[in-house]
Amino acid sequence: MAGLMYKCPRTRLPVGASALCVFVLCWLYIFPVYRLPDEKAIVQGVLMQQGKAWRRNQTAVTVFRKLLEDCCNPGQLFAMTRQNSPLRKNLWYDGEFLYSFSIDNATFSLFPQVSKHLVPLSLSSSLVDYIAHRSGCGKKIDHAEFVMRCNLPPLSAEYSKDVGSKTQLVTANPSIIEKRFQNLLWSRKAFVDSVKVYNHSYIYMPAFSMKTGTEPSLRVYYTLADVGASQTVLFANPNFLRDIGKFWKGKGIHAKRLSTGLFLVSAALGLCEEVTIYGFWPFSVDLHGRFISHHYYDNVLPDSGFHAMPEEFLQLWFLHKSGVLRMQLEQCEDPLSQPAA
Ligand SMILES: *[C@@H]1O[C@H](CO)[C@@H](O)[C@H](O)[C@H]1NC(C)=O
Ligand SMILES: *[C@@H]1O[C@H](CO)[C@@H](O)[C@H](O)[C@H]1NC(C)=O
Ligand SMILES: *[C@@H]1O[C@H](CO)[C@@H](O)[C@H](O)[C@H]1NC(C)=O
Repeated sequence: MAGLMYKCPRTRLPVGASALCVFVLCWLYIFPVYRLPDEKAIVQGVLMQQGKAWRRNQTAVTVFRKLLEDCCNPGQLFAMTRQNSPLRKNLWYDGEFLYSFSIDNATFSLFPQVSKHLVPLSLSSSLVDYIAHRSGCGKKIDHAEFVMRCNLPPLSAEYSKDVGSKTQLVTANPSIIEKRFQNLLWSRKAFVDSVKVYNHSYIYMPAFSMKTGTEPSLRVYYTLADVGASQTVLFANPNFLRDIGKFWKGKGIHAKRLSTGLFLVSAALGLCEEVTIYGFWPFSVDLHGRFISHHYYDNVLPDSGFHAMPEEFLQLWFLHKSGVLRMQLEQCEDPLSQPAA
């Protein structure tokens, strides 16, 4: 560190470059290079628990809920509502350093009145992310009352045995709207058709995390409203996302940003009575050492400097072991031996 500090002022760099140098030092300071937990050790730890019956621990659930309630109030704040985001309120983008926005009339009118009743407490929920390939968990997932999914995943018949088909809430990152639907600047039919599989679900969008995400998110809202689609767009509340980020940072997750999956698990733990998560397995081999793809539908890895998947996994695994939520890692049914019933 001292060596670096010494070098910077000595080289005669223009002002811009020395500013960059200072910035790099700050960056190193905020995000120190630390040792990632060893993948093999984690998998070993998980294997040791296999076969042990999972038991829900109501005390632990209550304690953890209280923590979430105190830091982040998911029940009230997970989505933007007229109540928590009143007209002309100034809000800061949670994924940017310097931008804020003021809620104007047009945007305000897109919010539901209050968040109560959006997700009735007392529900059991299934959360599906990443791989669930050959898991045979479809029926079990659909058995939950409230099913949440990440990032507009495909739900075609070929996957339903593994991931089910029911959805009550699905997240959509603005970047996916850009990549897959040209930001809805041209024809919107492909988008409208592709979300039909989600039936009457909420489409939960972090519209106010990055400045570039706001317009595509609003376009999603108007597109669906204009065609009278059965899905309803909810905007993630940037204050909620920021608080959840701080909460997990306090527990030792060093990432520039949490994954959508962890945001959603946090919301679910605050909103639903029972939470089961499927496919939250960030490693490239399964419990039997077989190579697996990252998402069940592709193998696109998240930007490695951006999220901290093994650490997120460890936190969730800890919650599983403490009986707060259930993490399904094993196959539910052997897909090969399923009767044709
Ligand atoms: C349940 O959780 C509480 C609080 O974390 C803990 O004190 C207790 O030992 C746990 N009970 C069982 C049976 O594991
Ligand atoms: C805001 O919207 C409401 C309802 O759409 C409308 O009645 C009101 O006149 C608008 N106010 C302004 C300042 O545009
Ligand atoms: C979609 O909704 C219809 C009517 O509400 C229902 O019959 C159907 O089973 C739902 N499909 C899924 C996949 O949930």
